[in-house]
Amino acid sequence: MSEQQPTPASGEVAAPYGSGSAPASATIKRIRTHHLAEMKARGEKVTMLTAYDMYTAEIFDEAGIEMLLVGDSASNNVLGNETSLPITVDELLPLTRAVAKTAKRAMVVGDLPFGSYQASPEQAYLTAVRFMKEGGAHCVKLEGGAEMAPVISKLVQGGVPVIAHIGFTPQSEHTLGGYRIQGRGAGAEKLLADAHAVQEAGAFAVVMEMVPADVAEQVSKELDILTIGIGAGAGCDGQVLVWTDAFGIRTGRMPKFVKQYADVRSVLLEGAKAYAADVKGGTFPDAEHSF
Ligand code: KIV
Repeated sequence: MSEQQPTPASGEVAAPYGSGSAPASATIKRIRTHHLAEMKARGEKVTMLTAYDMYTAEIFDEAGIEMLLVGDSASNNVLGNETSLPITVDELLPLTRAVAKTAKRAMVVGDLPFGSYQASPEQAYLTAVRFMKEGGAHCVKLEGGAEMAPVISKLVQGGVPVIAHIGFTPQSEHTLGGYRIQGRGAGAEKLLADAHAVQEAGAFAVVMEMVPADVAEQVSKELDILTIGIGAGAGCDGQVLVWTDAFGIRTGRMPKFVKQYADVRSVLLEGAKAYAADVKGGTFPDAEHSF
């Protein structure tokens, strides 16, 4: 922490950037929507990662990640499902609560599961309130563009900060015909219209997934609100990745937009093998680890 940074009050943490390289946001003790708007205004990029439990929340918070998304991707990263569709509100709430209890600085984003908000603005409001009251989320994210404008307005009017999610929206995988890039060619017009509609409805940020970089950059320039890209190029105001992709837990074919920053899977695998070998070989527990 640089000398200029105030000592955090008890229970709060400041981001851990080294002196000299600390961005202006490093001294913020709790990331709030106005801080994100200020970051966009001064051109400071925003970081978001998914987190589904207390330890990842603790680590990513300590790393200075500004936003932790308790994504419905927990469905296929924690609960063993193939896609994000099956996860329920009751399954996602305890994970949200664990992250919210642990993160001292990051904004915690509750992700509304498929079927929990599309029926009506009233249904969406009741679900969002559960994420904030029971889950401790500071805001919610929901998928959809212009068609979700009435839902977004209802939530915002009721005191729920909203992040919209446009472009490729995984909950609509079957409507969109699979994992496909959105916003190409004539689709760019729809993407821009969706982005403006969610801003108009009151969203404070918008995630853009699997969108051509030039279109995402245009959206980011046109909108006043924060844009967060995943497979949407470098022109967005911030970036999000699913942590199990970014740090090498998940196996199999990765989307082109994923960069692997660590190989946590190998570390765990080697650790588990060493433990098994010690137990089977009778070298654990030894005297040092026994009473
Ligand atoms: O649930 C999730 O992980 C997401 C990201 C892909 C943005 O919505």
